[in-house]
Amino acid sequence: MTAMQWFFSFLKKYRFRIIIALFFVTISCLLAIVNPYISGIIVDDVIRNGQYDLLWKLVVVFISTTLLRALSRYTYLYILEDSSQKMLYSMRDNVFRCIMAKDFNFYNKNRTGDLMSRQIGDMDAIRHFVAFVIYSIYENSLLLIIALVMMFTVDWRLAICMIAVLPITVVIAAKQLKAIKPSFKRIRDTFSSLNTFVQENVSGYRVVRAFAKEDYETEKFNKVNDEFRRVQLESTKDWRRYIPIFEFMASFLTVILYLVGGLMVIKNAMSLGQLVQLSGYLWMLNQPLRMAGWLANDYQRFVTSVEKIYSTVSVEPDIKEPLYPVNTERMYGDICFHHVNYNLDDDVILKDININIKRGETIGIIGATGSGKSTLMNLLCRFYDVSDGEITIDGVDVRKYDLFRLRDNIGMAMQDVFLFSDTIEGNIAYGKPDCTFEEVKHAAKMADADGFINAMPEGYDTIVGERGMGLSGGQKQRISLARALLKNPAIVILDDTTSAVDMETETHIQESLSSFTKWSSTREEGRHTVFIIAHRISSIKDADQILVLDNGCLIEHGTHDDLIAMNGYYATVFNHQYGEFDEIDKIRQKGGRANG
Ligand SMILES: Nc1ncnc2c1ncn2[C@@H]1O[C@H](COP(=O)(O)OP(=O)(O)O)[C@@H](O)[C@H]1O
Ligand SMILES: [Mg+2]
Repeated sequence: MTAMQWFFSFLKKYRFRIIIALFFVTISCLLAIVNPYISGIIVDDVIRNGQYDLLWKLVVVFISTTLLRALSRYTYLYILEDSSQKMLYSMRDNVFRCIMAKDFNFYNKNRTGDLMSRQIGDMDAIRHFVAFVIYSIYENSLLLIIALVMMFTVDWRLAICMIAVLPITVVIAAKQLKAIKPSFKRIRDTFSSLNTFVQENVSGYRVVRAFAKEDYETEKFNKVNDEFRRVQLESTKDWRRYIPIFEFMASFLTVILYLVGGLMVIKNAMSLGQLVQLSGYLWMLNQPLRMAGWLANDYQRFVTSVEKIYSTVSVEPDIKEPLYPVNTERMYGDICFHHVNYNLDDDVILKDININIKRGETIGIIGATGSGKSTLMNLLCRFYDVSDGEITIDGVDVRKYDLFRLRDNIGMAMQDVFLFSDTIEGNIAYGKPDCTFEEVKHAAKMADADGFINAMPEGYDTIVGERGMGLSGGQKQRISLARALLKNPAIVILDDTTSAVDMETETHIQESLSSFTKWSSTREEGRHTVFIIAHRISSIKDADQILVLDNGCLIEHGTHDDLIAMNGYYATVFNHQYGEFDEIDKIRQKGGRANG
């Protein structure tokens, strides 16, 4: 599909309305003939021949046609405005859906500001095209043809003089269309950059303040702003050359008409009334000429925007829904990594990972930053697909599951917590909006979040700012943990979820997590398979299997005791962190907190 075909797929639904609107445009254009025609009669028959009784009738016709024209104009403007807004509504909806359906790679490559520009700025150029440009091109072409036909009926010699400028107009308009295209594309690109710059600085205002970089950022912004002005002016330069030519030709026609027409009247080859009539048609001829340059701009702006939006929308996601998806509502929870490799461009991110996990097991993952822990989990969720090997859940390759079902069965507390500008309750219940308040509270208790939420002025109804502004890192992590637990999924992934909480809170979370596992094992849906990625040994010490990743390789694998006996990476980290264990024991002896 080309960008234009994509656009027409939206316009198609409104084609009948547009045809009706163009029908009214036609009526309006045809009615435009009447008034110049009457003007001619008034001059020749009423003024020169003294048929004064005719005047009243003519005035009535004059007023009625004007009213009719206004009415048909109102009708087509209404239809087009209405259709364009409705079309844009479904287009915006479609673009949003497309953007939502993209995979992680797409978001890694596209800047937020660019996507915002597509959804807001470019859409408007398209609306303008449907609401204004389409009918304007039609109206002006029709006016031009009607005017020429009418001129032929009055005097063919003058009409031919008028036609002579048409080929020139067409050639110039075509030249203009070609000349302005690159500059309009540059404008859209720079507009996106401007948008991105503002978006990044607003989102990252804390960092800017913390490093006192306001002046630096302002200076950088000025550069982008300057660039935007420069490309705008440059584009003005491109089309400015053409607009006066159209203006000149329009005026030139006026000169020719009065010069040749005047001479003909003097020589009695034409009546004065006919000249008045012709000068009425001249307006119908001039307007299209004057508009040609502007419409060429609008058209090119529209084409650029459609191409921009389509290039974003048409990117095929790498992660595809299988043709015949396996639609398991509740997965059991056995997971197997079988010779899993993952390469990104030329980098090997994960190499030959083999793991067998039984449902209900807790898997601890540890390893240096960048060793591939998060990537391993991303592959399980199909945020990316393995390069080689396979990952199965209950014996079925994850690539064969329905994507929604797969992710619905996984509850993930991600490493970088994202909270929506909503109430705390809304944020926790995000994955299960129809749950009761008791369930939200229960999840919050398990995540050791109930205490601090209750201490907030509006408790669970407190609105957290964008990205959870106003909460500490540890508080955000606990809300994200509650969100993952509330879903009560078959598989739970906690990616560095307790890195920002203090040791005491973590111990409480550990305890409630194990009671959560015990509690869930008594329920019908059964036990959870839990992955815990952590830096503290204390978080994963009791896990059924511990994986140690290094540089994308699984270097150690076993229980705590196995790995200590191995005396490798894990044992070294354990010995480093040994001091902390005394502290944890003390916390445990002190007993759980009220909300623990
Ligand atoms: N979106 C990405 N684009 C490029 N490289 C990535 C991306 N995500 C992860 N990586 C690379 O993959 C490796 C593993 O990353 P990750 O799984 O996040 O590590 P960990 O979670 O263990 O800290 C790192 O070397 C990182 O640079
Ligand atoms: Mg990570």
